[in-house]
Amino acid sequence: MSESTNARADIGVIGMAVMGSNLARNFAHHGFTVAVYNRSPQRTRDMIAEHGSEGDFVPAETLEEFVGSLKRPRKAMLMVKAGRGTDAVIEELKPLLEPGDMIIDGGNAHFSDTMEREAALREHDIHFVGTGVSGGEEGALKGPSIMPGGSVESYESLGPILEAVAAKAPDGTPCCAHLGPDGAGHFVKMVHNGIEYSDMQLIGEAYDLMRRGAGMEPTELADIFSEWNQGELDSYLIEITSEVLGHTDPVTKQPFIDIVVDQAGQKGTGRWTVQSALDLGVPVTGIAEATFARALSSGVPQREGLKGLLDGPNTQTVDTPKEFVEDIRQALYASKIVAYAQGFDQIRAAGKEYGWDIDLGLPAALWRAGCIIRAKFLDDITAVWKADPNLPSLLAAPRFADIVNQASESWRRVVAFAVTAGIPVPGFSAALAYFDGLRSNRLPAALVQGQRDFFGAHTYRRVDAEGVFHTDWSGDRSEIKMD
Ligand code: 6PG
Repeated sequence: MSESTNARADIGVIGMAVMGSNLARNFAHHGFTVAVYNRSPQRTRDMIAEHGSEGDFVPAETLEEFVGSLKRPRKAMLMVKAGRGTDAVIEELKPLLEPGDMIIDGGNAHFSDTMEREAALREHDIHFVGTGVSGGEEGALKGPSIMPGGSVESYESLGPILEAVAAKAPDGTPCCAHLGPDGAGHFVKMVHNGIEYSDMQLIGEAYDLMRRGAGMEPTELADIFSEWNQGELDSYLIEITSEVLGHTDPVTKQPFIDIVVDQAGQKGTGRWTVQSALDLGVPVTGIAEATFARALSSGVPQREGLKGLLDGPNTQTVDTPKEFVEDIRQALYASKIVAYAQGFDQIRAAGKEYGWDIDLGLPAALWRAGCIIRAKFLDDITAVWKADPNLPSLLAAPRFADIVNQASESWRRVVAFAVTAGIPVPGFSAALAYFDGLRSNRLPAALVQGQRDFFGAHTYRRVDAEGVFHTDWSGDRSEIKMD
């Protein structure tokens, strides 16, 4: 399709559900002319009727009209439900676009789908830019964290538009940067979500321990989270936790938290993070436990069927609630740092595996504002990776090593108490076990190697000699050096 004389839109958004329309409005608020399209045109009409006066919109009722209204190189941003919907729109758009045009996918797509779509569209010289967008509905409207992948060339003309509408970090830098080719952006967004799962689980455990272990009421807990939000734990998720705990159900006048069914949902990004980590061989134990904890909570047949059958302590109250709360704060901070350390390890491993070469300082910088896991300590994480991108782990940075080391005693007291009191803390205990695993001089993996060699001649290496060995377990137990 050649450029029509009506081609005046800087960017177009396809999909006028809340995220799409809010993002379109955000573009318009920043002075861009925005083409808008939705499969069912009534949604576009409604959006224009309600918000058309907020900026320069070009509503389209057909995709031809939509594409015709875009300036070249055309930038069509998909804000549709990830999956089949994305492929359907791509197929319809493809014949209408020309070399150099771009399709930007702002949904939570799986990075491997993004890699495939990018390769397929590259054949037609169309750029496919898989882009993570975080911050929920409000973020989309007021400034999300944006994590684009795709070609360097596409970022040259797209980057300035995305950067203009992205959230701004405390130092004023936009929370948007090119992360790497093809699936890099969606991969980083996926890990963001994995860390989000972990963070939410850890906060949930902290709440549970204080409620069941110290008998504190939701309003008291709301105050504690609000106080924590003034310090090292300052973050969006701690802030909204205080709001949720302080809320009263208008119907029953009970604490809102008590009227919500305790079964956590998930759309799949946490699960994808864990699946990918298994493939890459990276232990993201905090994210995995958080994902499984959601599954356990909603594994209704087991929870229902086992009610009253499994014995154990029900509650045990702490003697010194003030110290206990401070121990929990420290355990939470340390466990959070572990979750981030594991997430960054996964991004680094994926960067190597898929040839993305992601600078770890970038995701950290992009997560400083706008996104769900935004937190004050991301400034420090950004500084750490910028200073030394080759650190073996975030925990190797002296400032983070100091925090986890100093929290260690509190962390152990919290986990020990939880175990004795029968309160499940899979997030805290997995994070602590990871910490202990890393600081152990010798791990029982040596025994696993011995067992593997015994039953399957899988061989082992020795601490005192080079090479690979096997012991003749069923014979005279002599050792054979393998080549
Ligand atoms: C964000 C969120 C957003 C959403 C996810 C998680 O960054 O804005 O992560 O992407 O909340 O879909 O949802 P689930 O908890 O349902 O998996």
